[in-house]
Amino acid sequence: MTNLQPVRKAVIPVAGNGTRFLPATKATPKEMLTIVDRPVVQYAVDEALQAGIEQIIFVTSRNKAAIEDYFDTSPELTASLTKAGKTAQVAQLEKMLPLAGTITYTRQQAPLGLGHAVWCARELVGNEPFALLLPDMVSFGPRGCMAGLMDLYQEVGGNVFAVEECAPQDTSSYGIIGVGNRVEHGVQVTDMVEKPDPAVAPSNYYLNGRYILQPQIFDLLESQERGAGNEIQLTDSMQRLAASQPFHAHPYTGRTFDCGSKRGFIEANVAFAMLRADLGEELAQSIQQLVSERRQSAHAA
Ligand code: G1P
Repeated sequence: MTNLQPVRKAVIPVAGNGTRFLPATKATPKEMLTIVDRPVVQYAVDEALQAGIEQIIFVTSRNKAAIEDYFDTSPELTASLTKAGKTAQVAQLEKMLPLAGTITYTRQQAPLGLGHAVWCARELVGNEPFALLLPDMVSFGPRGCMAGLMDLYQEVGGNVFAVEECAPQDTSSYGIIGVGNRVEHGVQVTDMVEKPDPAVAPSNYYLNGRYILQPQIFDLLESQERGAGNEIQLTDSMQRLAASQPFHAHPYTGRTFDCGSKRGFIEANVAFAMLRADLGEELAQSIQQLVSERRQSAHAA
């Protein structure tokens, strides 16, 4: 489509308290837990930058200061690394430092749901389309999910998000869509329901946490009543916005690890470590060994 307003800003909500990872998250934000050697939140930021995003807006909350420190300079650390001759590490830290002024923070003052967290970013986003990345959902594939979503956005404009298939019995864990006609990079969306019971789910295509939305969503979020889980749900406002604007879905061809769950988080660690030249081979051997020991002990029991 021509004359599309560019998507320059990405909202990344990091306000959740991570109770599923207690006690680890007692003093550390869950977004700072590491996948191999980088915090979970870094994966979302890298994916956004790869897709051409210029500005990151974090919606944070109390006790999340470690995230701000992480994306800032660390003069004492740089000085001690330099003194110790660790120039490669100094260069790595410098390379990943965001350009000054390209990251902003606002706080969600009460945990009222994802819809409310997104609404908290309205003044920082302003009147332009924006990307939204839920950092617990970590994309794994040859190409970042957000880059593919940009292709669909360039094709159809409006509002777009990425989807994947879940097991039919898992629909009550996600936002689920009704699937319409195909377009080049995706499908039309006919319905959006937050966490439906499998018996009434319109499909098993779930929202995997990557969106490009028009700013009119903020007006609807402002008046959104509480929905599933007694929270203000983004999906409910998107469904209302669909009355006046198109929605399309991009089926992601990689896979997403739900790092809000212990299993997804551990799988992500293994999957990313397997790709590493310095770890992959030996790790694969250790895992094989552990699996066979587990089988043997299950057999003996
Ligand atoms: C949120 C969204 C849901 C989406 C999910 C992906 O739910 O509301 O539509 O499928 O993220 O992780 P939450 O995980 O916050 O319950």
